[in-house]
Amino acid sequence: MAIPFPHFISSEKAAMEAGLLVPSSPSSSVSVILTQDDLKKIAAYKAVEYVESGMVLGLGTGSTAKHAVNRIGELLQQGKLTNIIGIPTSTITHEQALSLGIPLSDLDTHPVVDLAIDGADEVDPYLNLVKGRGGSLLREKMVEGACKKFVCIVDESKLVNYLGGSGLAMPVEVTRFCWKYTARTLQSLFDESGCVAKLRTFGCE
Ligand code: A5P
Repeated sequence: MAIPFPHFISSEKAAMEAGLLVPSSPSSSVSVILTQDDLKKIAAYKAVEYVESGMVLGLGTGSTAKHAVNRIGELLQQGKLTNIIGIPTSTITHEQALSLGIPLSDLDTHPVVDLAIDGADEVDPYLNLVKGRGGSLLREKMVEGACKKFVCIVDESKLVNYLGGSGLAMPVEVTRFCWKYTARTLQSLFDESGCVAKLRTFGCE
């Protein structure tokens, strides 16, 4: 699902719902400058409108998904959502959800996920995504691969003409077993294809 970025700029209502703007009298004019994080929050709040009581939810990871998880916790505490079960896509989201009192489970117990909400690193015009730059690639793929509906929330900075278009790192997750061998194989593939990419390795999750 794609909700175009200008939607957010023009939507005073969405900014109010996210607590970024207070209602003004009809006679006064309002001017606000929304930060990128404000836009992420507005997008996240919009995504949470798809959440219904009783759902099993995939809880994404990252600075955008964080707002969605906060909002779900808030709605649970207000009693506006009930019987939610969250399946976190990283240890950090697991901790966040626990602190908000969101009941948690896993794919072993709940193999069907009604809805997953997460951010992305890049989105091309065909809605193909790069995900995992935050280091949660494996769990995200597992949880979001099991969901019936996936709502991906991004701000304008994530839009690219083609995957890799941001010029930033492309996440690849490999198993620990013989990872140096895999790294050499990947580097050879890059070199053979004339790609100038250099591998950087880091642990995750
Ligand atoms: C986590 O591994 C990533 O896939 C994130 O979901 C993605 O990087 C988006 O993160 P931000 O919302 O912080 O940009």
